[in-house]
Amino acid sequence: MRLAPPNAFPPIRIPPLVRELLLFPVAASESQKCRRKGRYMKVIAIATGILGAAALVMADGKGAAAKKAMGLEEGKKIFEANCVVCHGASGKGDGAAAAAMTPMPRDFTDAAYMQTRPVDQLRKVISEGGQSAGLSPLMMPFNSSLDAGQIDAVLNYVIAFSKSGGAKKPK
Ligand code: HEC
Repeated sequence: MRLAPPNAFPPIRIPPLVRELLLFPVAASESQKCRRKGRYMKVIAIATGILGAAALVMADGKGAAAKKAMGLEEGKKIFEANCVVCHGASGKGDGAAAAAMTPMPRDFTDAAYMQTRPVDQLRKVISEGGQSAGLSPLMMPFNSSLDAGQIDAVLNYVIAFSKSGGAKKPK
């Protein structure tokens, strides 16, 4: 299952100068080549500058925050498609199928409880199922339907339920 959002990338416009430079290796007179080479170097210098600036923006945390928000968006979609039926949209363990279960899915918004659950174990339960950690087999393994990145995304989404309560962050 791929969850790439549509229109993730804006359409690319190629300015005329760049188009000309892309044709640089195609045969041209020596003087033309020389002129183009100069422009080529200039464009490379500008591009390097832009990439450097982008790297700085990423480094100051804004990029990381944006990336995290995107991860949470993806995690939310995965959670809604695979987990809500038992865990409930609010993560409280009150999904439509939960009432008949013993034990019931835990309340992900209960920060005091969630803090007692190591992140690695939560990941293992999502990936290999409840039984892998001595929990209910009704918590099924998702490693055949979700890839590692999707499991991390939904894991972060699960963890975020208890962070919004203002309680201490689970480790
Ligand atoms: C068929 C119902 C069902 C579905 C679907 C389901 N779960 Fe669960 N899940 C459970 C139950 C029941 C438990 C509680 C097991 C226990 O406490 O013994 C559980 C436990 C967990 C735990 C462990 C919490 C703890 O106490 O350590 C995590 C994490 C979890 N589920 C995440 C997910 C995620 C993420 C999804 C979707 C990708 C999902 N579950 C889908 C029923 C379900």
